Amino acid sequence: VMHEDIKEVLYTEEQIQQRIREIGAALTEEYAPLAARGEKIVLLSVLRGAAIFMCDLAREIKLPLEMDFMAVSSYGNGVKSSGVVSIIKDVSTDLNGKHVIIAEDILDSGLTLSYLLKNLSSRNPASLSVVTFLRKKVEPQADIECKHVGFTCKNEFIVGYGLDYAERYRNLPYVGILKPEVYSA
Ligand code: IMP
Ligand code: MG
Repeated sequence: VMHEDIKEVLYTEEQIQQRIREIGAALTEEYAPLAARGEKIVLLSVLRGAAIFMCDLAREIKLPLEMDFMAVSSYGNGVKSSGVVSIIKDVSTDLNGKHVIIAEDILDSGLTLSYLLKNLSSRNPASLSVVTFLRKKVEPQADIECKHVGFTCKNEFIVGYGLDYAERYRNLPYVGILKPEVYSA
């Protein structure tokens, strides 16, 4: 059973859903005036980790919006992201003149997101902002401005709620720290 591999639960399903309701309510308030003017909102996530967060968040934003996805691969030595990113799947929508909200799973080094922000801003969105489910306390971290952060967490390898270890544990409804023996096995 997946649950037996978890050493410590950091955020329960209830805490996560509560926090997402708060962020969704805040975004609804922030973007309501421009939605009322007929301006378009695009909620964008990077596959695969952020998909679960994005889908829950989308249902807490009570405004018309489009949902779109990108997939990227990060080159480097495998463990750490290098900041050299290639786009495997691009958005399907034209972002020109739209208000883009990136829903991210976790901000670690921030290198992937730095690249994406640069890339996306070249498509002339009306605005571009980041909402991240988790932000790790690490040094160094790219200086990325987040409109909302779900939780700030310590620098440990965590899984669940979209986050994986070797493609497992994404479907846990909570976030936790894996038992060390799972890595060494
Ligand atoms: P960054 O470019 O270092 O910020 O990489 C961020 C990406 O690395 C996230 O979108 C996750 O896919 C992955 N990642 C970073 N930390 C963790 C973790 O603790 N567990 C699972 N995935 C992680
Ligand atoms: Mg990711």
